[in-house]
Amino acid sequence: MERQRLVEWLTETRRVLAFCGAGVSAESGIPTFRGSGGLWEGHDLEQVATREGFAADPALVWRFYAARMRRLPDVRPNPAHLVLAEMERAYPACLTVTQNVDDLHERAGSRALVKMHGSLLQTRCTGCGSVRAVVPGELNPDAALPRCDCGALLRPNVVWFGEWLDPSHLRRIDRFLRDATRAERPVLLVLGTSGAVSGGYGMLERSIAHGFRVVEVNPEETLLTGLADLSLREPVGALLGEVWPAVRDRLQSRDEQS
Ligand code: OAD
Repeated sequence: MERQRLVEWLTETRRVLAFCGAGVSAESGIPTFRGSGGLWEGHDLEQVATREGFAADPALVWRFYAARMRRLPDVRPNPAHLVLAEMERAYPACLTVTQNVDDLHERAGSRALVKMHGSLLQTRCTGCGSVRAVVPGELNPDAALPRCDCGALLRPNVVWFGEWLDPSHLRRIDRFLRDATRAERPVLLVLGTSGAVSGGYGMLERSIAHGFRVVEVNPEETLLTGLADLSLREPVGALLGEVWPAVRDRLQSRDEQS
């Protein structure tokens, strides 16, 4: 029943916004953040994901992120990433906004992508602010902490707790929402996020104000569930992998008729 509604809405729409969290990469084998007593892979969030934590013990923070960076080549995009990349080609307007710092959306082929929390594959200089790609030598922080040419310490280019989001990202999302028209029957997909960080940044409320239908896909009920028009309690990779071929076929026959 819910699946059928999802297929209908995805067939009718011409504008899709996907708001993704850690659950989207769960079926690729990357653990989610919450649900382990406030610990993040055995660490206190304050220690490894704040400026204060980095100032207190940069080696600990670097060891933590370097371990996650080193694991990326061992994981693969799952059907959720692949379907989102296909959606980008299937709809006139499609944007993926992810809180994930892994590179699985990019590897699946997503280009219209906002990485709200930054990227594990980049560093940023704590002195001059320059951003660049991680190089393999930086993945062994026990030998030496990564430094910029200007001499200052490099840090992972991810957003930590208490830090601001990039305003250009927020502007891009706002533009996408503002451009929506009723005739497009716009849809917001809320995929694998708990909404625990800033209530999902008000993404659902703002989308609803712009006329989007809201679909949540998450095996668990979340803080955001009450705002969704439709909730599917299923793993997102399995669900999208099964539902998308029917949607794609219908979209193709619609295009052929028009
Ligand atoms: P969370 O770990 O808070 O939530 C993950 C969500 O994914 C939960 O609601 C799970 O029920 C759901 N989930 C698990 N497996 C799933 C699956 N196969 N399919 C669909 N859903 C599944 O992660 P986020 O909401 O992403 O921030 O958390 C947001 C931010 O909190 C992260 O980006 C990070 C973290 O602290 C920073 O690093 C700043």
